[in-house]
Amino acid sequence: MLFVEKPKTYNFHFPSNIAIICAEYENQINLMTAAWHTQVSQKPPLYMVSISSQRYTHELIVYSREFSINFISYDLSQLAAFLGRTSGRDIEKVSVFDIALEQSVNIRTPFLKKAYAVYECKLYDYRRAGDHTLFIGQIVGVHYDENSFDPNLKTSPTLYLGSDKYATLDTSSVKIHSEKQVKDYLSKWVQDI
Ligand SMILES: Cc1cc2nc3c(=O)[nH]c(=O)nc-3n(C[C@H](O)[C@H](O)[C@H](O)COP(=O)(O)O)c2cc1C
Repeated sequence: MLFVEKPKTYNFHFPSNIAIICAEYENQINLMTAAWHTQVSQKPPLYMVSISSQRYTHELIVYSREFSINFISYDLSQLAAFLGRTSGRDIEKVSVFDIALEQSVNIRTPFLKKAYAVYECKLYDYRRAGDHTLFIGQIVGVHYDENSFDPNLKTSPTLYLGSDKYATLDTSSVKIHSEKQVKDYLSKWVQDI
């Protein structure tokens, strides 16, 4: 293994499932692409996205205190690139990229009609982390396409590899490692687990 103290980029943890973050404040609707996001609590259900303070989306979320997280299938990977390489400060992305939106149920911010799953989030907390802000949203509603889950994901997600490269998941590679399998293995050493 090579050791590098300070690499120029940190793409070693990718792939990351792409999320499109939608924000709205006073009828200004904007969307941006995010690769840095994850669930951070089950009870209450909290979802975190890390956004640079330079993004227009950052400004909108600070004011509106809500956002929607949209997961998109691989056929929309180009949209992820478009939304991640343009700013709502320069163009009106919804009309330029001809984006169809739907009304959310529990927040004012809409969501992407073509997403296969959506989390409606109300801002629960936020804090600076280096040059980004961690926005933690409480999930107050979920939309999902029934045909995309069985109950696990069975559609092709848009994954980001870094350096403008996108890929998807080969669902034929799915393996199941059950708790029973783990217990059976451990039972060689430990009883009653
Ligand atoms: C694949 C991809 C992933 C990205 N992930 C993030 C991210 O997690 N956080 C972030 O602040 N910016 C991220 N960006 C950059 C923003 O999407 C980009 O700066 C965008 O233009 C911001 O738009 P806005 O100014 O309209 O908010 C990403 C861009 C791409 C292409």
